[in-house]
Amino acid sequence: MHRPRRLRRTPVIRSLVREHHVRVDQLVQPLFVVQNPRDAGAISSMPGIERFTVERVVDEVRELADLGVKSVLLFGIPEFKDATATGNYDPNGVVQQAIRAIKRTNPSVCVIADLCNCEYTDHGHCGIVTESGDVDNDATVQLLVRTAITYAEAGVDVIAPSDMMDGRVDAIRSALDARDFTDVAIMAYSAKYASAFYGPFREAAGSTPQFGDRRTYQMDPPNAREALREIELDIEEGADIVMVKPGLPYLDIVRAARDAFEVPIAVYNVSGEYSMIQAAIANGWLEAERTVDELLVSFVRAGADIIITYFAKEFAARHGARG
Ligand code: PBG
Repeated sequence: MHRPRRLRRTPVIRSLVREHHVRVDQLVQPLFVVQNPRDAGAISSMPGIERFTVERVVDEVRELADLGVKSVLLFGIPEFKDATATGNYDPNGVVQQAIRAIKRTNPSVCVIADLCNCEYTDHGHCGIVTESGDVDNDATVQLLVRTAITYAEAGVDVIAPSDMMDGRVDAIRSALDARDFTDVAIMAYSAKYASAFYGPFREAAGSTPQFGDRRTYQMDPPNAREALREIELDIEEGADIVMVKPGLPYLDIVRAARDAFEVPIAVYNVSGEYSMIQAAIANGWLEAERTVDELLVSFVRAGADIIITYFAKEFAARHGARG
Protein backbone atom coordinates (compact mmCIF):
# COMPACT_ATOMS: atom_id res chain seq x y z
CA MET A 1 0.00 0.00 0.00
CA HIS A 2 1.18 3.51 -0.76
CA ARG A 3 1.57 5.50 2.45
CA PRO A 4 2.34 9.18 1.76
CA ARG A 5 1.95 9.82 5.50
CA ARG A 6 5.40 8.25 6.09
CA LEU A 7 6.98 11.49 4.87
CA ARG A 8 4.85 13.63 7.16
CA ARG A 9 5.69 11.77 10.35
CA THR A 10 8.27 14.11 11.96
CA PRO A 11 9.22 17.80 11.58
CA VAL A 12 12.62 16.84 10.20
CA ILE A 13 11.20 14.51 7.56
CA ARG A 14 8.63 17.12 6.61
CA SER A 15 11.32 19.74 6.15
CA LEU A 16 13.45 17.26 4.21
CA VAL A 17 10.77 16.85 1.57
CA ARG A 18 9.51 20.44 1.62
CA GLU A 19 9.19 21.71 -1.95
CA HIS A 20 8.90 25.48 -1.53
CA HIS A 21 10.30 28.15 0.77
CA VAL A 22 9.76 31.87 1.14
CA ARG A 23 13.05 33.78 1.10
CA VAL A 24 13.13 37.09 2.93
CA ASP A 25 15.18 38.54 0.07
CA GLN A 26 12.34 37.94 -2.38
CA LEU A 27 9.98 40.14 -0.34
CA VAL A 28 9.26 43.80 -1.08
CA GLN A 29 7.76 46.07 1.58
CA PRO A 30 5.44 48.80 0.27
CA LEU A 31 5.95 52.14 2.07
CA PHE A 32 3.69 55.20 2.12
CA VAL A 33 5.57 58.49 2.29
CA VAL A 34 3.81 61.76 3.10
CA GLN A 35 4.77 65.28 2.18
CA ASN A 36 2.78 66.88 4.98
CA PRO A 37 3.82 65.57 8.43
CA ARG A 38 0.19 65.93 9.55
CA ASP A 39 -0.70 63.05 7.21
CA ALA A 40 1.79 60.71 8.90
CA GLY A 41 0.76 57.93 11.26
CA ALA A 42 -1.43 54.86 11.45
CA ILE A 43 -3.86 53.78 8.71
CA SER A 44 -7.06 52.60 10.37
CA SER A 45 -7.98 50.01 7.73
CA MET A 46 -4.44 48.56 7.64
CA PRO A 47 -3.46 47.79 11.24
CA GLY A 48 0.33 47.72 11.62
CA ILE A 49 0.99 49.88 8.55
CA GLU A 50 2.01 53.52 8.85
CA ARG A 51 2.44 56.54 6.66
CA PHE A 52 5.95 57.94 7.11
CA THR A 53 7.55 61.33 6.61
CA VAL A 54 10.70 61.38 4.46
CA GLU A 55 12.75 61.66 7.65
CA ARG A 56 11.12 58.66 9.29
CA VAL A 57 11.04 56.47 6.19
CA VAL A 58 14.82 56.41 6.21
CA ASP A 59 14.79 54.77 9.66
CA GLU A 60 12.12 52.33 8.58
CA VAL A 61 14.18 51.31 5.55
CA ARG A 62 17.19 50.74 7.79
CA GLU A 63 15.16 48.55 10.13
CA LEU A 64 13.82 46.57 7.18
CA ALA A 65 17.30 46.10 5.72
CA ASP A 66 18.61 44.89 9.08
CA LEU A 67 15.85 42.27 9.04
CA GLY A 68 16.81 41.23 5.50
CA VAL A 69 14.08 43.07 3.57
CA LYS A 70 16.25 45.03 1.17
CA SER A 71 13.70 46.08 -1.41
CA VAL A 72 10.99 48.67 -0.87
CA LEU A 73 8.19 50.03 -3.04
CA LEU A 74 7.45 53.72 -2.52
CA PHE A 75 4.07 55.42 -2.74
CA GLY A 76 3.90 59.20 -2.38
CA ILE A 77 1.13 61.13 -0.68
CA PRO A 78 1.50 64.73 -1.84
CA GLU A 79 0.22 67.77 -0.04
CA PHE A 80 -1.56 69.22 -3.09
CA LYS A 81 -3.52 67.58 -5.89
CA ASP A 82 -4.79 68.99 -9.17
CA ALA A 83 -6.43 67.78 -12.38
CA THR A 84 -3.15 67.05 -14.18
CA ALA A 85 -1.01 65.59 -11.37
CA THR A 86 1.64 68.30 -11.56
CA GLY A 87 2.94 67.31 -8.11
CA ASN A 88 4.00 63.97 -9.56
CA TYR A 89 6.78 65.30 -11.80
CA ASP A 90 8.02 67.92 -9.34
CA PRO A 91 11.77 67.17 -9.06
CA ASN A 92 11.41 68.00 -5.39
CA GLY A 93 8.21 66.01 -4.87
CA VAL A 94 7.71 63.63 -1.98
CA VAL A 95 8.77 60.45 -3.82
CA GLN A 96 11.79 62.15 -5.38
CA GLN A 97 12.86 63.36 -1.92
CA ALA A 98 12.32 59.93 -0.41
CA ILE A 99 14.36 58.23 -3.14
CA ARG A 100 17.27 60.61 -2.54
CA ALA A 101 17.11 60.27 1.22
CA ILE A 102 16.99 56.46 1.12
CA LYS A 103 19.77 56.16 -1.45
CA ARG A 104 21.95 58.52 0.59
CA THR A 105 21.50 56.62 3.85
CA ASN A 106 20.94 53.03 2.64
CA PRO A 107 22.68 52.87 -0.74
CA SER A 108 22.47 49.10 -1.14
CA VAL A 109 18.70 48.98 -0.70
CA CYS A 110 16.72 48.47 -3.92
CA VAL A 111 14.37 51.42 -4.21
CA ILE A 112 11.35 50.78 -6.40
CA ALA A 113 8.97 53.67 -7.08
CA ASP A 114 5.35 53.08 -7.97
CA LEU A 115 4.56 55.30 -10.94
CA CYS A 116 0.96 56.46 -11.21
CA ASN A 117 -1.05 59.67 -11.13
CA CYS A 118 -3.98 58.71 -8.94
CA GLU A 119 -2.41 59.95 -5.69
CA TYR A 120 -1.70 63.30 -7.39
CA THR A 121 -4.98 64.06 -9.16
CA ASP A 122 -7.88 65.80 -7.43
CA HIS A 123 -10.32 63.52 -9.28
CA GLY A 124 -8.43 60.39 -8.18
CA HIS A 125 -8.07 58.85 -11.64
CA CYS A 126 -4.75 57.52 -12.88
CA GLY A 127 -4.36 60.06 -15.67
CA ILE A 128 -5.71 62.99 -17.63
CA VAL A 129 -9.49 62.88 -17.70
CA THR A 130 -11.22 63.84 -20.98
CA GLU A 131 -14.54 65.67 -21.31
CA SER A 132 -16.36 62.36 -21.61
CA GLY A 133 -14.93 61.33 -18.23
CA ASP A 134 -12.54 58.70 -19.58
CA VAL A 135 -8.77 58.71 -19.12
CA ASP A 136 -6.76 59.90 -22.15
CA ASN A 137 -4.21 57.17 -22.78
CA ASP A 138 -1.51 58.96 -24.74
CA ALA A 139 -1.62 62.23 -22.79
CA THR A 140 -1.31 60.21 -19.59
CA VAL A 141 1.68 58.31 -20.95
CA GLN A 142 3.46 61.64 -21.59
CA LEU A 143 2.83 62.59 -17.98
CA LEU A 144 4.16 59.27 -16.71
CA VAL A 145 7.30 59.63 -18.81
CA ARG A 146 7.92 63.07 -17.36
CA THR A 147 7.59 61.76 -13.80
CA ALA A 148 9.68 58.65 -14.52
CA ILE A 149 12.60 60.84 -15.54
CA THR A 150 12.46 62.75 -12.25
CA TYR A 151 12.52 59.42 -10.37
CA ALA A 152 15.55 58.33 -12.39
CA GLU A 153 17.28 61.64 -11.70
CA ALA A 154 16.65 61.12 -7.99
CA GLY A 155 18.45 57.74 -8.18
CA VAL A 156 15.67 55.16 -8.23
CA ASP A 157 16.64 51.56 -9.02
CA VAL A 158 13.34 50.36 -10.45
CA ILE A 159 10.31 52.19 -11.84
CA ALA A 160 6.98 50.41 -11.46
CA PRO A 161 4.21 51.86 -13.65
CA SER A 162 0.83 50.89 -12.15
CA ASP A 163 -1.48 52.97 -14.35
CA MET A 164 -2.39 50.34 -17.00
CA MET A 165 -2.13 52.78 -19.94
CA ASP A 166 -1.24 51.16 -23.26
CA GLY A 167 2.29 51.69 -24.53
CA ARG A 168 3.69 53.21 -21.34
CA VAL A 169 6.51 50.71 -20.86
CA ASP A 170 7.90 51.42 -24.31
CA ALA A 171 7.58 55.19 -23.81
CA ILE A 172 9.27 55.11 -20.40
CA ARG A 173 12.06 52.77 -21.58
CA SER A 174 12.82 54.95 -24.60
CA ALA A 175 12.84 58.15 -22.55
CA LEU A 176 15.12 56.64 -19.90
CA ASP A 177 17.53 55.27 -22.51
CA ALA A 178 17.64 58.58 -24.37
CA ARG A 179 18.85 60.22 -21.14
CA ASP A 180 21.40 57.52 -20.33
CA PHE A 181 19.34 55.97 -17.55
CA THR A 182 19.90 52.58 -19.14
CA ASP A 183 20.42 50.97 -15.71
CA VAL A 184 17.03 51.91 -14.32
CA ALA A 185 14.83 48.80 -14.52
CA ILE A 186 11.10 48.64 -15.17
CA MET A 187 8.79 46.45 -13.15
CA ALA A 188 5.47 46.69 -14.98
CA TYR A 189 2.13 46.20 -13.31
CA SER A 190 1.19 44.17 -16.38
CA ALA A 191 -1.85 42.20 -15.31
CA LYS A 192 -3.50 44.61 -12.94
CA TYR A 193 -7.17 43.94 -12.36
CA ALA A 194 -9.97 46.40 -11.52
CA SER A 195 -10.20 44.90 -8.05
CA ALA A 196 -12.28 45.55 -4.94
CA PHE A 197 -9.22 44.49 -2.94
CA TYR A 198 -7.55 47.92 -3.34
CA GLY A 199 -10.05 49.50 -0.93
CA PRO A 200 -7.76 50.04 2.09
CA PHE A 201 -4.92 51.32 -0.13
CA ARG A 202 -7.16 54.05 -1.48
CA GLU A 203 -7.83 55.16 2.07
CA ALA A 204 -4.09 55.03 2.82
CA ALA A 205 -3.12 56.94 -0.32
CA GLY A 206 -6.21 59.15 -0.58
CA SER A 207 -6.66 58.01 -4.19
CA THR A 208 -10.30 56.94 -4.46
CA PRO A 209 -11.77 58.07 -7.80
CA GLN A 210 -14.23 60.93 -7.19
CA PHE A 211 -16.43 59.67 -10.05
CA GLY A 212 -16.66 56.46 -12.03
CA ASP A 213 -14.17 53.65 -11.55
CA ARG A 214 -11.00 52.25 -13.15
CA ARG A 215 -12.64 49.63 -15.37
CA THR A 216 -11.70 51.27 -18.66
CA TYR A 217 -8.01 50.85 -17.89
CA GLN A 218 -7.58 48.11 -15.29
CA MET A 219 -8.42 44.55 -16.34
CA ASP A 220 -11.76 42.80 -16.03
CA PRO A 221 -11.46 40.18 -13.25
CA PRO A 222 -12.96 37.25 -15.20
CA ASN A 223 -10.26 37.43 -17.91
CA ALA A 224 -7.22 35.16 -17.90
CA ARG A 225 -5.94 34.96 -21.49
CA GLU A 226 -5.97 38.73 -21.65
CA ALA A 227 -3.52 38.83 -18.74
CA LEU A 228 -1.00 36.83 -20.74
CA ARG A 229 -1.46 39.19 -23.67
CA GLU A 230 -0.83 42.21 -21.41
CA ILE A 231 2.29 40.57 -19.98
CA GLU A 232 3.56 39.65 -23.43
CA LEU A 233 3.15 43.23 -24.63
CA ASP A 234 4.99 44.64 -21.63
CA ILE A 235 7.89 42.23 -22.15
CA GLU A 236 8.06 43.24 -25.83
CA GLU A 237 8.04 46.89 -24.79
CA GLY A 238 11.01 46.33 -22.49
CA ALA A 239 9.71 45.42 -19.03
CA ASP A 240 12.41 43.70 -16.95
CA ILE A 241 9.95 42.32 -14.41
CA VAL A 242 6.21 41.78 -14.88
CA MET A 243 3.59 41.77 -12.17
CA VAL A 244 0.26 40.15 -11.42
CA LYS A 245 -2.02 42.07 -9.06
CA PRO A 246 -3.86 41.32 -6.76
CA GLY A 247 -2.31 38.09 -5.53
CA LEU A 248 -4.57 35.64 -3.74
CA PRO A 249 -7.59 35.79 -6.08
CA TYR A 250 -5.26 35.58 -9.12
CA LEU A 251 -2.86 32.74 -8.30
CA ASP A 252 -3.98 31.00 -11.49
CA ILE A 253 -2.65 33.99 -13.46
CA VAL A 254 0.68 33.85 -11.62
CA ARG A 255 1.02 30.17 -12.52
CA ALA A 256 0.01 30.72 -16.15
CA ALA A 257 2.51 33.60 -16.46
CA ARG A 258 5.26 31.51 -14.85
CA ASP A 259 4.67 28.72 -17.37
CA ALA A 260 4.51 31.07 -20.37
CA PHE A 261 7.37 33.53 -19.76
CA GLU A 262 11.01 33.53 -18.69
CA VAL A 263 11.23 36.97 -17.06
CA PRO A 264 10.98 37.42 -13.27
CA ILE A 265 7.38 37.52 -12.09
CA ALA A 266 6.21 39.65 -9.20
CA VAL A 267 2.94 39.27 -7.37
CA TYR A 268 1.30 42.03 -5.35
CA ASN A 269 -0.40 40.81 -2.19
CA VAL A 270 -2.57 43.94 -1.99
CA SER A 271 -4.05 46.00 0.81
CA GLY A 272 -7.44 44.24 0.90
CA GLU A 273 -5.76 40.85 1.24
CA TYR A 274 -3.70 42.25 4.10
CA SER A 275 -6.65 43.90 5.84
CA MET A 276 -9.00 40.95 5.66
CA ILE A 277 -6.39 38.70 7.23
CA GLN A 278 -5.57 41.29 9.91
CA ALA A 279 -9.28 41.70 10.67
CA ALA A 280 -9.74 37.95 11.07
CA ILE A 281 -6.63 37.76 13.28
CA ALA A 282 -7.91 40.65 15.43
CA ASN A 283 -11.18 38.76 15.89
CA GLY A 284 -9.35 35.63 16.96
CA TRP A 285 -10.65 33.78 13.89
CA LEU A 286 -7.25 33.12 12.32
CA GLU A 287 -3.90 32.34 13.90
CA ALA A 288 -1.51 35.11 12.88
CA GLU A 289 1.81 33.43 12.19
CA ARG A 290 0.58 30.26 10.52
CA THR A 291 -1.79 32.24 8.34
CA VAL A 292 0.90 34.63 7.09
CA ASP A 293 3.37 31.79 6.44
CA GLU A 294 0.78 29.81 4.50
CA LEU A 295 -0.26 32.90 2.57
CA LEU A 296 3.25 33.83 1.46
CA VAL A 297 4.29 30.33 0.45
CA SER A 298 1.21 30.13 -1.77
CA PHE A 299 2.75 32.84 -3.96
CA VAL A 300 6.03 30.95 -4.24
CA ARG A 301 4.18 27.73 -5.05
CA ALA A 302 2.22 29.53 -7.78
CA GLY A 303 5.54 30.56 -9.34
CA ALA A 304 6.20 34.12 -8.20
CA ASP A 305 9.82 35.25 -7.86
CA ILE A 306 9.07 38.51 -6.09
CA ILE A 307 6.36 39.04 -3.49
CA ILE A 308 5.21 42.56 -2.69
CA THR A 309 3.48 42.32 0.67
CA TYR A 310 2.59 44.45 3.70
CA PHE A 311 3.56 41.39 5.77
CA ALA A 312 7.23 41.54 4.65
CA LYS A 313 8.59 43.14 7.82
CA GLU A 314 6.62 40.94 10.16
CA PHE A 315 7.61 37.78 8.26
CA ALA A 316 11.28 38.77 8.22
CA ALA A 317 11.24 39.58 11.94
CA ARG A 318 10.09 36.03 12.67
CA HIS A 319 12.15 34.13 10.13
CA GLY A 320 15.45 35.98 10.11
CA ALA A 321 17.37 37.10 7.07
CA ARG A 322 17.37 33.63 5.54
CA GLY A 323 13.62 33.13 5.55
C1 PBG B 1 -1.97 53.07 -8.00
C2 PBG B 1 -1.93 51.82 -7.22
C3 PBG B 1 -2.96 51.19 -6.51
C4 PBG B 1 -2.36 50.12 -5.84
C5 PBG B 1 -1.03 50.10 -6.19
N1 PBG B 1 -0.78 51.15 -7.05
C6 PBG B 1 -4.38 51.56 -6.33
C7 PBG B 1 -5.33 51.47 -7.46
O1 PBG B 1 -5.00 51.09 -8.58
O2 PBG B 1 -6.47 51.85 -7.22
C8 PBG B 1 -3.06 49.17 -4.90
C9 PBG B 1 -2.17 48.56 -3.85
C10 PBG B 1 -2.89 47.90 -2.75
O3 PBG B 1 -4.14 47.77 -2.73
O4 PBG B 1 -2.20 47.45 -1.82
N2 PBG B 1 -2.67 53.04 -9.19
